[in-house]
Amino acid sequence: MPKISLKKINSLKKNKIGISALTSYDASFAKLADNCGIDIILVGDSLGEVIQGNPNTHSVTMNDMCYHTKIVSRGIKKALLIADMPKNSYKTKSQALKNAKKLIAKNMADMVKIEFKEKDTEVIKHLISNNILVCSHIGILPQTIENKSSYKKVGKTIHEANRLINEAMLIEKLGSQMLIVECIDEQVAKIISGKLHIPVIGIGSGKSCDGQIRVIYDIFEISFNGVPGFLKPKNKKLNPMKKILEKYITNTNKYKL
Ligand code: KIV
Repeated sequence: MPKISLKKINSLKKNKIGISALTSYDASFAKLADNCGIDIILVGDSLGEVIQGNPNTHSVTMNDMCYHTKIVSRGIKKALLIADMPKNSYKTKSQALKNAKKLIAKNMADMVKIEFKEKDTEVIKHLISNNILVCSHIGILPQTIENKSSYKKVGKTIHEANRLINEAMLIEKLGSQMLIVECIDEQVAKIISGKLHIPVIGIGSGKSCDGQIRVIYDIFEISFNGVPGFLKPKNKKLNPMKKILEKYITNTNKYKL
């Protein structure tokens, strides 16, 4: 089975087929998601929270990202693989290029992701002109936030909405090939998805984006810092992983009886 190309992902947007994306941090979960037919896997720096048990993503290093990208890539046959550039790894053009190349080397990631701030304009241009595929990330930017308690929807005022729309359009103009919008107002996400030609993948930003991305541990409701409010399940059934573990423990306890 050939790898999903960016061209194929773009054709899903054109044909109005929702693009599915998930994070993964290890080979087994990556293989599970890949076998289930996921389009995109992101090795997110959310690993700082869900794998390392920190309150935020800030202490994730390039070494962490290279290690997890390498092991995730072993589990993937088909999905497009994106790797996050961690905080402080793209402060200058040359640092960004050097680090992006590390994540893309040896067929690891197909694309890198950066959390976009205005000062990153030159960084994006530099990566693109060196043939690195770039996914940008706007809205809530976890690399600038201390913990989940400060998460709140962005884009509710006209001023913020215009800022996000202009940022998204600039990002496309700079040559970014994909955009992730995190926790932005649903109407604003819809406008951005309509205006841009590149795929717009949402998390906590409503159903009108071209695709959706989730932290895989949030889906299984086992994330170390809890599941963000906008992703909390509506019905409060016991989560399936917990059920399986509890059954295993109960059965094992009975063995010696
Ligand atoms: O690091 C991450 O997992 C992310 C997703 C939430 C989009 O950036």
